[in-house]
Amino acid sequence: MQTYTAIAHTNIALIKYWGKKDDKFIIPFNNSLSLTLDRFYTKTSAQPITAATDSFVLDGQAQSGAALSKVTSFLDILRAETGSTQRLAINSTNHVPTAAGLASSASGFAALTLASCAAFGLQLPRRTLSRLARRGSGSACRSIYGGFVEWKKGQDDLTSFATPLAANEQVDLDIAMIALVVSAQAKKVTSRQGMATTVATSPFYPAFVKSCETDLLAIKQAIDAQDLEKVGQIAESNALKMHATNLGATPPFSYFLPETLVAIAAIQQLRAKGFLCYFTMDAGPNVKVICRGQEALKIQAELQALLPNTEMLLAYPGPGAKIVNSE
Ligand code: DP6
Repeated sequence: MQTYTAIAHTNIALIKYWGKKDDKFIIPFNNSLSLTLDRFYTKTSAQPITAATDSFVLDGQAQSGAALSKVTSFLDILRAETGSTQRLAINSTNHVPTAAGLASSASGFAALTLASCAAFGLQLPRRTLSRLARRGSGSACRSIYGGFVEWKKGQDDLTSFATPLAANEQVDLDIAMIALVVSAQAKKVTSRQGMATTVATSPFYPAFVKSCETDLLAIKQAIDAQDLEKVGQIAESNALKMHATNLGATPPFSYFLPETLVAIAAIQQLRAKGFLCYFTMDAGPNVKVICRGQEALKIQAELQALLPNTEMLLAYPGPGAKIVNSE
């Protein structure tokens, strides 16, 4: 039977999603804004099968247990939402360096949504694909689109989806990101657990949600004005506020490692020398540098001199998710 293959790129949030109002439907407390990257992606094929259950191969390995049921329960959601009864053989490859701490769940669920819906024989609008991808992992709804993407929180399943900032999904701002892989250690607290604990217990959480509103407005203006300095400042401040909520949680937790602080100090050192560089961080110890595309190689070289043992991966704005072949 026909196989449908999709590619989706990962995205990094400049205004963070951190906390669900509704765990089942993954409805967030605040709008978030991300940049889709060109370098890191997931490629997923879906083939309709006559077997009674779905199967899942990841990076060449047949999966069972928790990894398989994560995929089959998501396919159950897709089937329930679309009315399909079709079982699928899923084959997925992550082109995201495993240690990079670059969310592969975003590209993973976006690619899985596209390939599976195509294999169900459906041609769905991208807004619907974004809503469906959201049910797998919140940040996946943003990977449906390229460039700068805003996830509008909405109030419910129908109204919570991502939308690109520019209709053509192109980025006019000269921006790049350098992922500094400061530690390959697996994170102790998943983003799902971390945000749930923070929402339930951190007195700082409401302040974070409130400041996201102001940060979002300001960063959209800065993107429009092509003011990268301001984009960097707002993104860095927003990420630090997100991480501050975790310190206020019960029990408190942090994604920072000593190496994280060393990397941040190196970025601050470059900034003091007049380089335009800021950072953002997600639910892990690695740091993503925000800089001008034109200056990225120079900044990477300067950082590498300060952090000789740190792996660095440079990425530029990337495209939205698409079906690449069906045969
Ligand atoms: C820190 O999308 O991985 O990267 O919806 O529970 O699957 P779930 O969470 P996920 O969380 C991403 C959190 C973040 C910030 C962001 O990407 O906006």
